[in-house]
Amino acid sequence: MAEFCDGTEEQCLKRAAQLLNAGSCVALPTETVYGLAARYDVEEAVHSVFRLKGRPNDNPLIVHVASIAQAAQVGDVSNTVVRSLMDAFWPGPLTIVVPKVPSVLSAVTAGLPTVAIRCPAHDVFRTILQSTGPLVAPSANVSGRPSPTTAAHVLHDFANADVLVVDGGECQVGLESTVVHVNNSTISILRPGDITSQQLARYGTVAVQSQHNAENAIPMAPGMKYRHYAPDAEVVLLSTVAEAQQFTTHARDTCMLLIETNELQNLVTEERTGWKSVRELHQHSLYSNLRDADALGITMIVCVCTARIRENEALMNRLQKAQSKR
Ligand code: TXA
Ligand code: MG
Repeated sequence: MAEFCDGTEEQCLKRAAQLLNAGSCVALPTETVYGLAARYDVEEAVHSVFRLKGRPNDNPLIVHVASIAQAAQVGDVSNTVVRSLMDAFWPGPLTIVVPKVPSVLSAVTAGLPTVAIRCPAHDVFRTILQSTGPLVAPSANVSGRPSPTTAAHVLHDFANADVLVVDGGECQVGLESTVVHVNNSTISILRPGDITSQQLARYGTVAVQSQHNAENAIPMAPGMKYRHYAPDAEVVLLSTVAEAQQFTTHARDTCMLLIETNELQNLVTEERTGWKSVRELHQHSLYSNLRDADALGITMIVCVCTARIRENEALMNRLQKAQSKR
């Protein structure tokens, strides 16, 4: 049975660190989404992360660190652009892929010569990293489910597993970190996230990896090829409220509408009926809403992607993934 403890209590953090050091998996909050943490240097602990999640073993894990010094334990951080990205964005939602040091287990990197490293900006995770050293931590969802942004989401996915969940409240960012690879001064975005290409462009030439890679290009983050974040319901992306109104005239009682807050206010005053559920379309609550849609038996989720939403590359990336049925 999964259990949880309150991350503001010292006893809880102590217990989490003890369990981790003994080779167990513990779910920890980060500013992006909850992670399922384990020691990076204990093979059995790393394997149990894959096993618990049902994660394909060709999908490498991110190593989480408290500092650049801890990062240097697992990867080559000598590139000057890498260093400037760490200085600018750590702690924060930026994962950097660098050459791994030989001692990093190949189970962690799925056999790749590189390792993904991130320094999370959450006090609970940072405190624990001080007493454990680097920890692997994929998102703490069962593979194929939306990433968890609350302790309750983690408990739901791992109800029957022997996992301690440290409750650190709701995740502020709500989407997974930006993953980049640096080659000389080119910064390739392997997965869009809260740190945007505009922000990264101050530190090098930014290249966004397309889904259709040229053969000699750097591979996308391997995890991006899997069907992620897709709820049971069909997801439809539209650009205006008017389109949404028309789209579902006949089936609204089974539909959820996701819409920007100010548009929502207009809609609610105009019309109160129809949709089974009307929610705010925002990166912070997207995964919660996708989970709720499944729980409510929603058959269609209509998202109104106004200009402001379309500017958010990370949110649009996750919406497009939710839409894809492969
Ligand atoms: O915000 C986050 O990054 C969260 C929190 C818990 O830190 N973690 C997370 O981990 O999203 P996960 O395992 O769900 O996603 C890691 C992504 C996958 O797409 C994986 O393929 C990619 O990072 N990745 C890991 N190591 C890599 C490497 N060496 N080269 C390229 N991509 C890598
Ligand atoms: Mg994940």
